[in-house]
Amino acid sequence: MNWNKGIRQVHRWLSVIFTVSVIATFVALAQREPIVWVSYVPLLPLALLMLSGLYLFALPYLAKWRGGRRPAPGA
Ligand code: HEM
Repeated sequence: MNWNKGIRQVHRWLSVIFTVSVIATFVALAQREPIVWVSYVPLLPLALLMLSGLYLFALPYLAKWRGGRRPAPGA
């Protein structure tokens, strides 16, 4: 597995973790006595999503600047 594919996989699985943590936040805040700290948990996967997402965003532009061939769709 090459580096770019690895980052894409990480981004994909982070999105699952982020989604679960947002659902957990809804449940935690809906309690009679809301568990507020849980609402901070999604911030970590969201920050990692932003970093890996910005990397994925930059990939095609970096490839163009390097003058390489464009990757095949889905690669
Ligand atoms: C926080 C800032 C984020 C940035 C800058 C970002 C950016 C990106 C970029 C550039 C791609 C690649 C698009 C492509 O060329 O195919 C991507 C893919 C994707 N993003 Fe994000 N993203 C962010 C957050 C999220 C969030 C919050 C979720 C969902 C909870 C998410 C889920 C996904 C998924 C599932 C893919 C497809 C991954 C794959 O190809 O397997 N992203 N994102």
